[in-house]
Amino acid sequence: MKVQIIYSSLSGKTKRLAEAIAVGITEADTWTLHNLKDGEPELDGDIILLGYWVDKGGPEKKMQEFMKKVSGKAVGIFCTLGFYADSTHANQSVNAGIDIVKKNNTIIGSYVCNGALSEQIIKMFRKNGTQGTHSTSPENEIRWSIMASHPTKAECELGAERFRERIEIYRRFQEKGLPFKSIS
Ligand SMILES: Cc1cc2nc3c(=O)[nH]c(=O)nc-3n(C[C@H](O)[C@H](O)[C@H](O)COP(=O)(O)O)c2cc1C
Repeated sequence: MKVQIIYSSLSGKTKRLAEAIAVGITEADTWTLHNLKDGEPELDGDIILLGYWVDKGGPEKKMQEFMKKVSGKAVGIFCTLGFYADSTHANQSVNAGIDIVKKNNTIIGSYVCNGALSEQIIKMFRKNGTQGTHSTSPENEIRWSIMASHPTKAECELGAERFRERIEIYRRFQEKGLPFKSIS
């Protein structure tokens, strides 16, 4: 099967995850990797994995627009974000992506993990002072420093495992003529 991994990444965190997912795909499948900053690829894969950095609790704009064009495919969704990966916000951020594609596609899986705010964004937040969400605070500073190395190797490997397994399940179902019911 042909797997297309298409992602958007501003500061490299989602790119790191996308590359790990690509490397984790078994030899039974072929894959291509596209960064949306290089333009929108032709959708000729059997399976499309769409990855984005979270902006305002959902896919950033370029990916949002691209997602609307994906139809009739087996689709996986992944993203990285600055807030906690096990938070309601993270859940909503990955679901916001799923919601765009689920009507016209089969959802085979999703994965959300921590990214990290870039140094540039942190510097900007520090300039904003201490008031509001996009500002510095002792709490934010601690979280940013602990999260700075995300996504970690372990997070990348888990994402790779998630999609490697789903692709394998999807393929075996196809071989036996079994339907894969969208999981979302
Ligand atoms: C303009 C902007 C908006 C963001 N909005 C959110 C947000 O709503 N929630 C969140 O948890 N992180 C948010 N982030 C953090 C990024 O999603 C996070 O740092 C991500 O891992 C960056 O991935 P990248 O390196 O692939 O660009 C935002 C970052 C930027 C620059």
